[in-house]
Amino acid sequence: MDCKLICNAAYLGARTDDRLFGSFIEHMGRVVYSGVYEPSHASADEDGFRRDVLNAVHDMHLSCVRYPGGNFVSNYNWRDGVGPRAERPRRPELAWRSIETNAFGLNEFMQWSQKAQVEPILSVNLGTGSVQSALELLEYCNFPAGTTFSALRRSHGVEKPYNIRLWCLGNEMDGRWQLGHRSAQEYASLAAQAGRAMKQLDPSISLAVCGSSKSDMPSFPDWDLAVLEQTYDLVDYLSVHQYYGGQTLGTAAFLAQAIDMDRYLNTLRSALCVTKQRWKTSHNVYLSLDEWGVWARPAASVDQEVAAHPWQIAPAISEQIYTHEDAMLFSSMLLSMLRHADIVKIGCQALLTNISACLMTEPNGGLWRQTTYYPFAAISAHGRGRLLQTVLDSPAYSCDAFTEVPYLDHVAVWNEAKREAVFFAVNRSPDESLNLQLSLQGFGSPKNIVHDQLYAQNPFTTNQLQHDAVTMQRCSTPKENADGCTLSLPPLSFHTIRFLY
Ligand code: AHR
Repeated sequence: MDCKLICNAAYLGARTDDRLFGSFIEHMGRVVYSGVYEPSHASADEDGFRRDVLNAVHDMHLSCVRYPGGNFVSNYNWRDGVGPRAERPRRPELAWRSIETNAFGLNEFMQWSQKAQVEPILSVNLGTGSVQSALELLEYCNFPAGTTFSALRRSHGVEKPYNIRLWCLGNEMDGRWQLGHRSAQEYASLAAQAGRAMKQLDPSISLAVCGSSKSDMPSFPDWDLAVLEQTYDLVDYLSVHQYYGGQTLGTAAFLAQAIDMDRYLNTLRSALCVTKQRWKTSHNVYLSLDEWGVWARPAASVDQEVAAHPWQIAPAISEQIYTHEDAMLFSSMLLSMLRHADIVKIGCQALLTNISACLMTEPNGGLWRQTTYYPFAAISAHGRGRLLQTVLDSPAYSCDAFTEVPYLDHVAVWNEAKREAVFFAVNRSPDESLNLQLSLQGFGSPKNIVHDQLYAQNPFTTNQLQHDAVTMQRCSTPKENADGCTLSLPPLSFHTIRFLY
């Protein structure tokens, strides 16, 4: 099949925000314990952090990490996780029905963030927590000195305030599964009280208020509109989440769910615009997709795993193994976020280690990278800059839920610092190659064209047993012609094509 992409150097769009390339660490399963933190591991540093994970995080070019949840935060008392480790309480953790030792808490996360060179994003408990507990946490983190909680921080060896910039007002409060779930009006009122008080304590912070936790929530988009209606002037981001499963639908329908992602983001854009108009304000609220990913197993099986292993410390739950096909939808989700870079400013791929993760760690053993790691690392490394507007001519297909799904999914970015025009492309066809003609107008002649691809002959290949079964491969230099080049994209493949000027 033939397809064509045209772009022009003069037609630039929004800048992709660095914070789009973030991740998420929750106290869930083995994300923290034997994920990022394992003091007895051969690679552990003096603080117990796995160096192999820190190195892999560096290779992912991660910009920010959200912590500590997730559902976990909605019954978490942050004070349990600070102070001398020997005195920290063990608690039954209700979201995942495990035992939380609190060996890793706020100060460990902050130390880890500094080593990983990522910006921390903190969520406060608005489930069983209160305005008061959120304020005390903010005081502990950001107040310089001379008050009870800043003194407590200093007594824990942290003299300077952390000055954490971005705070999430709870997590997925639209979900009945969430401890402290309430109606949109009740949540918005609590979030407004907490947000107002927090900004009074530290006016320099930004706040994210809970929007919808998935596009198929029955309350979407009414929840988002109702919450924004009460909080628009106070907050800076609407926090929304999205996970897709649906592998049993077949490849075509599975991959077409990226169209739902586009619709989700467009609907949310409308909700933001409508509310801004109602408020008659110049203030802008943006989207924070602070949990996103592909769900490799039906969610019910996670519940069964949790039920089968109750009250354990860091049980190995929900350790999803990604296929090459999963990596295609994962790539398309991230491309959709980039396409909406004018409103999507934060993205946290969920989660960092072991649960729906790019990085898998074996306790006392090695680290390996899932199929999804590669498109994430490639887009994170090369996706920073201004969007390039494109005109696409691609054959398309239909499935039960979607019509006119282009076989070629793509985003183009101009990175002025590196003087690179970068094309990210996914061929969604399970059985046909795409002959792609790329036309670049107004750029001059490239010094070089570099083409990397992620491809597996069997779409269900994983990296579980053979850890390098699916990795990014350098391709031969594409054939240049008058205004660009032509390439052949094999069935079900992801590509990074960089024109260096
Ligand atoms: O898998 C992570 C969980 O998914 C988070 O705790 C929650 O926010 C989401 O539903």
